[in-house]
Amino acid sequence: MKETLRYLAGIAGPSGYGSNSTAERVTEDCCCQIDPHLTAIVTGATSGIGAETARVLAKRGVRVIVAARNMKKAFEVKGCILKESPNADIIILEIDLSSFASVRRFCSEFFSLGFPLNILINNAGVFSQKMEFSEDKIEMTFATNYLGHFLLTDMLLEKMVETAEKTGIQGRIINVSSIIHSWIKRETFSFNQMLNPNNYNGTRAYAQSKLATIMHAKELARQLKTRKARVTINAVHPGIVKTGIIRAHKGFITDSLYFLASKLLKSTSQGAATTCYVALSPQAEGISGAYFADCNQSCCSALANDESESRNLWKRTRALICRRLHPPAP
Ligand SMILES: NC(=O)c1ccc[n+]([C@@H]2O[C@H](COP(=O)([O-])OP(=O)(O)OC[C@H]3O[C@@H](n4cnc5c(N)ncnc54)[C@H](OP(=O)(O)O)[C@@H]3O)[C@@H](O)[C@H]2O)c1
Repeated sequence: MKETLRYLAGIAGPSGYGSNSTAERVTEDCCCQIDPHLTAIVTGATSGIGAETARVLAKRGVRVIVAARNMKKAFEVKGCILKESPNADIIILEIDLSSFASVRRFCSEFFSLGFPLNILINNAGVFSQKMEFSEDKIEMTFATNYLGHFLLTDMLLEKMVETAEKTGIQGRIINVSSIIHSWIKRETFSFNQMLNPNNYNGTRAYAQSKLATIMHAKELARQLKTRKARVTINAVHPGIVKTGIIRAHKGFITDSLYFLASKLLKSTSQGAATTCYVALSPQAEGISGAYFADCNQSCCSALANDESESRNLWKRTRALICRRLHPPAP
Protein backbone atom coordinates (compact mmCIF):
# COMPACT_ATOMS: atom_id res chain seq x y z
CA MET A 1 0.00 0.00 0.00
CA LYS A 2 2.79 2.40 1.02
CA GLU A 3 4.70 1.42 -2.15
CA THR A 4 1.64 2.10 -4.35
CA LEU A 5 1.09 5.53 -2.81
CA ARG A 6 4.77 6.32 -3.23
CA TYR A 7 4.53 5.27 -6.90
CA LEU A 8 1.38 7.28 -7.63
CA ALA A 9 2.64 10.39 -5.91
CA GLY A 10 6.10 10.00 -7.43
CA ILE A 11 7.62 10.35 -3.96
CA ALA A 12 11.39 9.91 -4.00
CA GLY A 13 12.90 6.92 -2.21
CA PRO A 14 16.26 6.79 -0.36
CA SER A 15 18.17 7.35 -3.63
CA GLY A 16 16.50 10.75 -4.03
CA TYR A 17 14.57 9.51 -7.10
CA GLY A 18 11.16 7.96 -7.60
CA SER A 19 8.66 6.75 -10.18
CA ASN A 20 8.52 10.07 -12.03
CA SER A 21 12.29 10.58 -12.31
CA THR A 22 13.53 10.49 -15.88
CA ALA A 23 16.67 8.92 -17.32
CA GLU A 24 17.97 12.41 -18.18
CA ARG A 25 17.45 13.60 -14.62
CA VAL A 26 19.10 10.65 -12.85
CA THR A 27 22.16 10.87 -15.08
CA GLU A 28 22.36 14.67 -15.12
CA ASP A 29 22.91 14.70 -11.38
CA CYS A 30 26.01 12.51 -11.69
CA CYS A 31 27.22 13.46 -15.17
CA CYS A 32 30.42 15.13 -13.95
CA GLN A 33 31.37 11.85 -12.20
CA ILE A 34 30.80 9.66 -15.29
CA ASP A 35 34.07 8.43 -16.77
CA PRO A 36 34.40 9.79 -20.33
CA HIS A 37 35.70 6.47 -21.74
CA LEU A 38 32.87 4.06 -20.99
CA THR A 39 31.60 1.54 -23.52
CA ALA A 40 28.12 0.02 -23.21
CA ILE A 41 26.17 -2.60 -25.10
CA VAL A 42 22.38 -2.09 -25.10
CA THR A 43 20.21 -4.89 -26.49
CA GLY A 44 16.80 -4.00 -27.91
CA ALA A 45 17.87 -0.38 -28.43
CA THR A 46 15.71 0.01 -31.55
CA SER A 47 12.60 1.06 -29.65
CA GLY A 48 11.00 1.92 -26.32
CA ILE A 49 13.04 1.77 -23.15
CA GLY A 50 16.18 0.51 -24.91
CA ALA A 51 16.21 3.36 -27.45
CA GLU A 52 15.81 5.90 -24.66
CA THR A 53 18.53 4.20 -22.61
CA ALA A 54 20.91 4.34 -25.59
CA ARG A 55 20.06 8.01 -26.23
CA VAL A 56 20.71 9.07 -22.65
CA LEU A 57 23.92 7.03 -22.25
CA ALA A 58 25.22 8.53 -25.51
CA LYS A 59 24.29 12.02 -24.33
CA ARG A 60 26.41 11.39 -21.22
CA GLY A 61 29.43 10.52 -23.38
CA VAL A 62 29.21 6.73 -23.25
CA ARG A 63 30.14 4.85 -26.45
CA VAL A 64 27.01 2.81 -27.21
CA ILE A 65 26.85 -0.43 -29.14
CA VAL A 66 23.28 -0.74 -30.40
CA ALA A 67 22.71 -4.51 -30.48
CA ALA A 68 19.73 -4.96 -32.79
CA ARG A 69 18.01 -7.44 -35.07
CA ASN A 70 16.39 -4.75 -37.23
CA MET A 71 19.17 -2.78 -38.93
CA LYS A 72 16.82 -0.20 -40.48
CA LYS A 73 15.40 0.73 -37.07
CA ALA A 74 18.90 0.72 -35.56
CA PHE A 75 20.12 3.27 -38.15
CA GLU A 76 17.06 5.44 -37.47
CA VAL A 77 17.81 5.39 -33.73
CA LYS A 78 21.45 6.23 -34.45
CA GLY A 79 20.34 9.14 -36.67
CA CYS A 80 18.08 10.54 -33.93
CA ILE A 81 20.83 10.27 -31.32
CA LEU A 82 23.36 12.00 -33.60
CA LYS A 83 20.91 14.82 -34.30
CA GLU A 84 20.78 15.57 -30.60
CA SER A 85 24.39 14.65 -29.72
CA PRO A 86 26.54 15.07 -32.88
CA ASN A 87 29.67 13.74 -31.13
CA ALA A 88 27.99 10.59 -29.88
CA ASP A 89 29.87 7.37 -30.57
CA ILE A 90 27.24 4.84 -31.74
CA ILE A 91 28.07 1.50 -33.32
CA ILE A 92 25.42 -0.82 -34.69
CA LEU A 93 25.90 -4.58 -34.53
CA GLU A 94 23.37 -7.20 -35.54
CA ILE A 95 22.02 -9.70 -33.05
CA ASP A 96 18.98 -11.94 -32.84
CA LEU A 97 18.76 -12.91 -29.20
CA SER A 98 16.53 -15.86 -29.94
CA SER A 99 19.38 -17.56 -31.82
CA PHE A 100 22.52 -18.98 -30.16
CA ALA A 101 24.39 -18.74 -33.48
CA SER A 102 23.50 -15.05 -33.84
CA VAL A 103 24.61 -14.26 -30.28
CA ARG A 104 27.95 -15.94 -30.96
CA ARG A 105 28.36 -14.00 -34.24
CA PHE A 106 27.59 -10.76 -32.43
CA CYS A 107 30.25 -11.47 -29.80
CA SER A 108 32.94 -12.31 -32.33
CA GLU A 109 32.15 -9.12 -34.28
CA PHE A 110 32.27 -7.14 -31.04
CA PHE A 111 35.61 -8.68 -30.00
CA SER A 112 37.07 -7.93 -33.43
CA LEU A 113 36.49 -4.20 -32.79
CA GLY A 114 38.94 -4.36 -29.87
CA PHE A 115 36.78 -2.23 -27.57
CA PRO A 116 36.71 -2.52 -23.78
CA LEU A 117 33.32 -3.26 -22.18
CA ASN A 118 32.10 -1.50 -19.05
CA ILE A 119 28.32 -1.80 -19.21
CA LEU A 120 26.02 -4.52 -20.58
CA ILE A 121 22.30 -3.78 -20.64
CA ASN A 122 20.23 -6.90 -21.30
CA ASN A 123 17.09 -5.03 -22.28
CA ALA A 124 15.55 -6.67 -25.38
CA GLY A 125 12.30 -8.47 -24.76
CA VAL A 126 9.27 -10.07 -26.38
CA PHE A 127 5.81 -10.80 -25.02
CA SER A 128 3.92 -12.98 -27.46
CA GLN A 129 0.41 -14.38 -27.09
CA LYS A 130 1.19 -16.92 -29.78
CA MET A 131 3.45 -19.91 -29.17
CA GLU A 132 6.45 -19.81 -31.47
CA PHE A 133 9.77 -21.62 -31.49
CA SER A 134 13.23 -20.23 -32.11
CA GLU A 135 15.61 -21.67 -34.69
CA ASP A 136 17.13 -23.65 -31.78
CA LYS A 137 13.63 -25.15 -31.22
CA ILE A 138 13.07 -23.43 -27.91
CA GLU A 139 9.94 -21.48 -26.95
CA MET A 140 10.55 -17.96 -28.33
CA THR A 141 9.91 -15.83 -25.20
CA PHE A 142 12.22 -17.91 -23.03
CA ALA A 143 14.82 -18.13 -25.82
CA THR A 144 14.86 -14.34 -26.40
CA ASN A 145 14.32 -12.82 -22.97
CA TYR A 146 16.40 -15.26 -20.94
CA LEU A 147 18.57 -17.76 -22.85
CA GLY A 148 19.94 -15.32 -25.43
CA HIS A 149 20.91 -12.84 -22.73
CA PHE A 150 22.38 -15.62 -20.59
CA LEU A 151 24.68 -16.67 -23.45
CA LEU A 152 25.52 -13.06 -24.33
CA THR A 153 26.50 -12.30 -20.73
CA ASP A 154 28.50 -15.50 -20.45
CA MET A 155 30.48 -14.73 -23.61
CA LEU A 156 31.15 -11.08 -22.69
CA LEU A 157 31.89 -11.60 -19.01
CA GLU A 158 35.67 -12.12 -19.23
CA LYS A 159 35.97 -8.97 -21.39
CA MET A 160 34.11 -7.04 -18.70
CA VAL A 161 36.25 -8.48 -15.90
CA GLU A 162 39.42 -7.67 -17.86
CA THR A 163 38.22 -4.10 -18.64
CA ALA A 164 37.43 -3.52 -14.96
CA GLU A 165 40.88 -4.79 -13.91
CA LYS A 166 42.69 -2.64 -16.49
CA THR A 167 40.74 0.57 -15.91
CA GLY A 168 39.86 0.27 -12.23
CA ILE A 169 36.27 1.11 -13.22
CA GLN A 170 33.63 -1.31 -12.02
CA GLY A 171 31.75 -3.13 -14.77
CA ARG A 172 27.97 -3.18 -14.53
CA ILE A 173 25.46 -5.62 -16.02
CA ILE A 174 21.76 -4.78 -15.92
CA ASN A 175 19.05 -7.36 -16.61
CA VAL A 176 15.78 -5.67 -17.49
CA SER A 177 13.11 -7.74 -15.77
CA SER A 178 9.55 -6.97 -14.66
CA ILE A 179 7.40 -6.93 -11.56
CA ILE A 180 5.29 -9.56 -13.33
CA HIS A 181 7.94 -12.13 -12.27
CA SER A 182 6.17 -12.29 -8.90
CA TRP A 183 3.12 -13.94 -10.53
CA ILE A 184 5.06 -17.18 -10.94
CA LYS A 185 4.58 -19.83 -8.28
CA ARG A 186 7.20 -22.43 -7.51
CA GLU A 187 5.10 -25.33 -8.85
CA THR A 188 4.82 -23.78 -12.32
CA PHE A 189 8.52 -22.90 -12.63
CA SER A 190 9.81 -25.90 -14.57
CA PHE A 191 12.86 -25.64 -16.82
CA ASN A 192 11.65 -28.25 -19.32
CA GLN A 193 8.21 -26.64 -19.53
CA MET A 194 9.78 -23.25 -20.21
CA LEU A 195 11.79 -24.73 -23.09
CA ASN A 196 8.84 -26.54 -24.60
CA PRO A 197 5.49 -25.83 -22.88
CA ASN A 198 2.62 -28.32 -23.05
CA ASN A 199 0.06 -25.67 -22.51
CA TYR A 200 1.28 -22.24 -23.66
CA ASN A 201 0.13 -19.08 -21.98
CA GLY A 202 1.85 -15.89 -23.22
CA THR A 203 1.61 -14.00 -19.94
CA ARG A 204 2.96 -16.94 -17.97
CA ALA A 205 5.81 -17.48 -20.45
CA TYR A 206 6.75 -13.80 -20.24
CA ALA A 207 6.58 -13.76 -16.43
CA GLN A 208 8.68 -16.94 -16.21
CA SER A 209 11.34 -15.46 -18.49
CA LYS A 210 11.44 -12.31 -16.35
CA LEU A 211 11.77 -14.37 -13.15
CA ALA A 212 14.61 -16.30 -14.76
CA THR A 213 16.45 -13.05 -15.59
CA ILE A 214 16.35 -11.98 -11.93
CA MET A 215 17.60 -15.42 -10.81
CA HIS A 216 20.37 -15.16 -13.40
CA ALA A 217 21.42 -11.79 -11.94
CA LYS A 218 21.36 -13.13 -8.38
CA GLU A 219 23.36 -16.30 -9.11
CA LEU A 220 25.93 -14.55 -11.28
CA ALA A 221 26.33 -11.81 -8.64
CA ARG A 222 27.22 -14.53 -6.10
CA GLN A 223 29.76 -16.06 -8.49
CA LEU A 224 31.34 -12.68 -9.25
CA LYS A 225 31.61 -11.87 -5.55
CA THR A 226 33.30 -15.23 -4.87
CA ARG A 227 35.92 -14.57 -7.53
CA LYS A 228 36.25 -10.93 -6.36
CA ALA A 229 35.61 -9.63 -9.88
CA ARG A 230 34.93 -5.90 -10.15
CA VAL A 231 31.74 -6.45 -12.09
CA THR A 232 28.23 -6.16 -10.67
CA ILE A 233 24.95 -7.50 -12.00
CA ASN A 234 21.50 -6.32 -10.98
CA ALA A 235 17.93 -6.71 -12.21
CA VAL A 236 15.52 -3.82 -12.75
CA HIS A 237 11.79 -3.38 -13.18
CA PRO A 238 11.38 -0.33 -15.45
CA GLY A 239 7.74 0.34 -14.53
CA ILE A 240 4.77 -0.02 -16.86
CA VAL A 241 5.48 1.92 -20.03
CA LYS A 242 3.37 2.00 -23.20
CA THR A 243 6.04 0.78 -25.61
CA GLY A 244 5.94 -1.71 -28.48
CA ILE A 245 5.78 -4.63 -26.06
CA ILE A 246 2.40 -3.43 -24.78
CA ARG A 247 1.13 -1.98 -28.07
CA ALA A 248 1.44 -5.47 -29.57
CA HIS A 249 -1.44 -6.57 -27.31
CA LYS A 250 -4.38 -5.13 -29.19
CA GLY A 251 -8.07 -5.59 -28.51
CA PHE A 252 -10.93 -3.70 -26.94
CA ILE A 253 -10.35 -4.94 -23.37
CA THR A 254 -6.60 -4.37 -23.44
CA ASP A 255 -6.99 -0.94 -25.06
CA SER A 256 -9.67 0.07 -22.54
CA LEU A 257 -7.59 -1.12 -19.62
CA TYR A 258 -4.59 0.84 -20.85
CA PHE A 259 -6.73 3.91 -21.47
CA LEU A 260 -8.09 3.74 -17.91
CA ALA A 261 -4.65 3.02 -16.49
CA SER A 262 -2.89 5.62 -18.60
CA LYS A 263 -2.35 7.85 -15.58
CA LEU A 264 -0.36 5.03 -13.98
CA LEU A 265 1.87 4.44 -16.99
CA LYS A 266 5.35 5.88 -17.14
CA SER A 267 6.77 7.83 -20.06
CA THR A 268 9.59 6.10 -21.93
CA SER A 269 12.12 8.39 -20.28
CA GLN A 270 10.76 7.49 -16.84
CA GLY A 271 10.87 3.83 -17.93
CA ALA A 272 14.57 4.10 -18.80
CA ALA A 273 15.45 5.89 -15.56
CA THR A 274 16.07 2.85 -13.36
CA THR A 275 18.31 1.17 -15.96
CA CYS A 276 20.34 4.39 -16.45
CA TYR A 277 20.54 4.94 -12.69
CA VAL A 278 21.93 1.45 -12.06
CA ALA A 279 24.27 1.75 -15.07
CA LEU A 280 25.80 5.12 -14.21
CA SER A 281 25.03 6.43 -10.75
CA PRO A 282 27.87 6.39 -8.20
CA GLN A 283 25.15 5.50 -5.66
CA ALA A 284 24.80 2.08 -7.32
CA GLU A 285 28.57 1.39 -7.19
CA GLY A 286 29.31 -1.92 -5.50
CA ILE A 287 25.68 -3.05 -5.33
CA SER A 288 25.24 -6.47 -6.90
CA GLY A 289 22.53 -9.13 -6.94
CA ALA A 290 19.85 -6.55 -6.14
CA TYR A 291 16.49 -5.77 -7.72
CA PHE A 292 15.66 -2.13 -8.46
CA ALA A 293 12.39 -0.38 -9.24
CA ASP A 294 11.81 3.38 -9.52
CA CYS A 295 15.57 3.95 -9.08
CA ASN A 296 15.65 2.36 -5.63
CA GLN A 297 16.43 -1.10 -4.33
CA SER A 298 13.22 -3.03 -4.04
CA CYS A 299 11.91 -6.47 -3.08
CA CYS A 300 11.45 -9.31 -5.51
CA SER A 301 9.51 -12.52 -4.92
CA ALA A 302 10.60 -15.24 -2.49
CA LEU A 303 11.22 -17.55 -5.46
CA ALA A 304 13.46 -14.96 -7.14
CA ASN A 305 15.41 -14.79 -3.87
CA ASP A 306 15.77 -18.55 -3.52
CA GLU A 307 19.51 -19.26 -3.80
CA SER A 308 19.25 -22.97 -4.51
CA GLU A 309 16.60 -22.46 -7.23
CA SER A 310 18.79 -19.82 -8.88
CA ARG A 311 21.87 -22.05 -8.72
CA ASN A 312 19.90 -24.94 -10.16
CA LEU A 313 18.51 -22.78 -12.99
CA TRP A 314 21.99 -21.48 -13.75
CA LYS A 315 23.46 -25.02 -13.92
CA ARG A 316 20.65 -26.32 -16.14
CA THR A 317 20.94 -23.33 -18.47
CA ARG A 318 24.71 -23.72 -18.75
CA ALA A 319 24.36 -27.44 -19.45
CA LEU A 320 21.72 -26.81 -22.13
CA ILE A 321 23.82 -24.17 -23.86
CA CYS A 322 26.95 -26.37 -23.74
CA ARG A 323 24.99 -29.29 -25.22
CA ARG A 324 23.58 -27.11 -28.03
CA LEU A 325 26.86 -25.39 -28.84
CA HIS A 326 29.06 -28.47 -28.55
CA PRO A 327 26.91 -31.49 -29.45
CA PRO A 328 28.67 -34.85 -29.01
CA ALA A 329 30.18 -36.22 -32.23
CA PRO A 330 27.78 -38.68 -33.95
N1 LIG B 1 6.97 -1.63 -21.35
C1 LIG B 1 6.73 -2.10 -20.16
O1 LIG B 1 5.71 -1.78 -19.56
C2 LIG B 1 7.70 -3.03 -19.50
C3 LIG B 1 7.43 -3.44 -18.17
C4 LIG B 1 8.33 -4.30 -17.55
C5 LIG B 1 9.45 -4.73 -18.25
N2 LIG B 1 9.67 -4.33 -19.53
C6 LIG B 1 10.88 -4.83 -20.21
O2 LIG B 1 11.59 -3.73 -20.76
C7 LIG B 1 12.37 -4.19 -21.86
C8 LIG B 1 12.21 -3.26 -23.03
O3 LIG B 1 10.89 -3.39 -23.52
P1 LIG B 1 10.07 -2.18 -24.15
O4 LIG B 1 8.91 -1.96 -23.26
O5 LIG B 1 10.96 -1.05 -24.47
O6 LIG B 1 9.51 -2.91 -25.47
P2 LIG B 1 9.73 -2.65 -27.02
O7 LIG B 1 9.54 -1.22 -27.36
O8 LIG B 1 8.88 -3.68 -27.69
O9 LIG B 1 11.27 -3.00 -27.24
C9 LIG B 1 11.73 -4.31 -27.24
C10 LIG B 1 13.08 -4.33 -27.92
O10 LIG B 1 13.57 -5.70 -27.92
C11 LIG B 1 14.00 -6.00 -29.23
N3 LIG B 1 13.93 -7.44 -29.51
C12 LIG B 1 12.86 -8.25 -29.40
N4 LIG B 1 13.20 -9.49 -29.79
C13 LIG B 1 14.50 -9.46 -30.15
C14 LIG B 1 15.41 -10.44 -30.65
N5 LIG B 1 15.04 -11.70 -30.86
N6 LIG B 1 16.67 -10.06 -30.88
C15 LIG B 1 17.06 -8.78 -30.70
N7 LIG B 1 16.25 -7.81 -30.23
C16 LIG B 1 14.98 -8.16 -29.98
C17 LIG B 1 13.06 -5.23 -30.14
O11 LIG B 1 13.62 -5.17 -31.43
P3 LIG B 1 12.75 -4.87 -32.76
O12 LIG B 1 12.75 -3.39 -32.87
O13 LIG B 1 13.53 -5.57 -33.83
O14 LIG B 1 11.39 -5.46 -32.52
C18 LIG B 1 13.02 -3.90 -29.41
O15 LIG B 1 14.15 -3.13 -29.69
C19 LIG B 1 11.92 -5.63 -22.14
O16 LIG B 1 12.84 -6.53 -21.58
C20 LIG B 1 10.60 -5.73 -21.41
O17 LIG B 1 10.31 -7.04 -21.02
C21 LIG B 1 8.82 -3.49 -20.17
